[in-house]
Amino acid sequence: MKEEVIKLLITEADKARKYAYAPYSNFLVGAALVVPSGRIFTGCNVENSSYGLTNCAERTAVFKAISEGQRHIDAIAIVGGPLAGEMEYAYPCGACRQVLAEFLPESGDIDIIVAKSLEDYKKFKLSELLPKSFSL
Ligand code: THU
Repeated sequence: MKEEVIKLLITEADKARKYAYAPYSNFLVGAALVVPSGRIFTGCNVENSSYGLTNCAERTAVFKAISEGQRHIDAIAIVGGPLAGEMEYAYPCGACRQVLAEFLPESGDIDIIVAKSLEDYKKFKLSELLPKSFSL
């Protein structure tokens, strides 16, 4: 994934983080993914008073993309941290990793960028974070 696209994804994820609905954890997360056409979809975490119903930022972005006709994801950036405090490397949870694995691109792998800022980020392949994933 080009540096330029990575920076764009981080910027968009940070913008989406502003919409995070996280009154229970006060941990705000934004995500932005890019599909093969170059279109970008964003998401934030959406919590619920029945805690288990919370949806992570990554899955919000994935479901937005899939529900608008997309079937492949090239890369996703995640930006997260507490409402008051330093940004953290917000690694996607196991559920989000498995959901991402459903929508691999032709290259066969998804780039995952966990970012504290435009200059401070780490890049992984989904296959590194979720080896031997389940598929039918
Ligand atoms: N969360 C995400 O949205 N993505 C992650 O990668 C990790 C966790 C959310 C879920 C919950 O709203 C809050 O962060 C604390 O777990």
